[in-house]
Amino acid sequence: MSKLLASCGALALAAASIAAAAPVDEDLPDAGGEIERMADEVALELQRVCPPVSPADQAAFDRCRHSLFGDSALRRSLAPRLLWGRRNQDAAATLKDTNLTQFAPDLFAGLYLSLFMFSGEHRVEYVQRERLYLIRLQSAFRNRLPPGQFPYPFWHDEAKWGVYQATNCILLWVDPKTARIVIGQFTERGEGSAVVASKPLSPKFDGNWMWMDKEGRIQPRVTLFDGLFRQHNPYLPKLDFTYRTLALRMRDAQCENCHMPNNPFPMRRLVIMHTPAHAAGEIGRLMKAVREDRMPLDEAGIEQPLEPGLKRALLESGSAFEALVKAAKEWEAAQRD
Ligand code: HEC
Repeated sequence: MSKLLASCGALALAAASIAAAAPVDEDLPDAGGEIERMADEVALELQRVCPPVSPADQAAFDRCRHSLFGDSALRRSLAPRLLWGRRNQDAAATLKDTNLTQFAPDLFAGLYLSLFMFSGEHRVEYVQRERLYLIRLQSAFRNRLPPGQFPYPFWHDEAKWGVYQATNCILLWVDPKTARIVIGQFTERGEGSAVVASKPLSPKFDGNWMWMDKEGRIQPRVTLFDGLFRQHNPYLPKLDFTYRTLALRMRDAQCENCHMPNNPFPMRRLVIMHTPAHAAGEIGRLMKAVREDRMPLDEAGIEQPLEPGLKRALLESGSAFEALVKAAKEWEAAQRD
């Protein structure tokens, strides 16, 4: 069932853990054929809308993220919530033992996967150890975009940024029961070279996850849905202000002590809410967790009731933000032909 093309093929996984054939598990419906078709469709789409170009090409990046964020084959193949991160440096480690970040599908497609370019070369196999199908896609990373095009400064962690820049393979893990992609990973240890060669850059992290540019605009722009929503979306201007109010309440409620990209707590399945786009992806769960007094936790991981005034303020600013995100998305959807 593998494609003949070399596509970041044999990773350093133990050969025994990979069965090229369909799962032997009797309780599993064999979705192998369906997954193979989905992989072909997604790989073809990625090659068409996010082809190998210069890693500095802004127009190509815009086309790619706009297409993937919209009604794409990729988005239709994503689970309602998925995990994203580096492949574990330890080849023996399982996905369960690998730190990953949780994402809503639109965020994953529009802000993360679109940062890569694809040749369309891919391979599908069943990985017995994980009980998941694995799609490997030959790829490369757009490391030369302006800093505001990344969802946050990935270079806050030199090792992680190094892997991003050297990525030659994207791994998409698929649940055999639903035929949906549940985990995405990037690795520099796939077979073959990256589909575009680029010299590594080493930007310095100044400690700010968000910042103001010379024109007084909030950065990173992508986290304000810049280039994802239409420029004249009437809800966009308010999104910034409404998010800032929510962010202040989250700061008061200590959420920032843990839910940040550098994973200070640290969580195996990190949740981040530190930009408008990231908060938009989590707002439903955020509201529920606060309403049910499940968050925040203290340093020992024990639930701490919020002071009632603070809880009310957090819920108020949260629901204003939630309503605005919903309106902005509905307006976008109504514009599509
Ligand atoms: C001391 C660290 C810590 C603080 C402070 C904290 N969290 Fe969490 N949060 C966690 C951990 C750990 C998890 C994952 C495990 C869990 O669900 O208990 C989590 C999970 C979540 C989730 C996703 C899971 C779910 O229950 O839906 C949301 C949403 C969330 N937190 C929101 C918040 C908000 C909002 C605040 C501030 C009011 C906050 N957290 C403060 C550590 C923290």
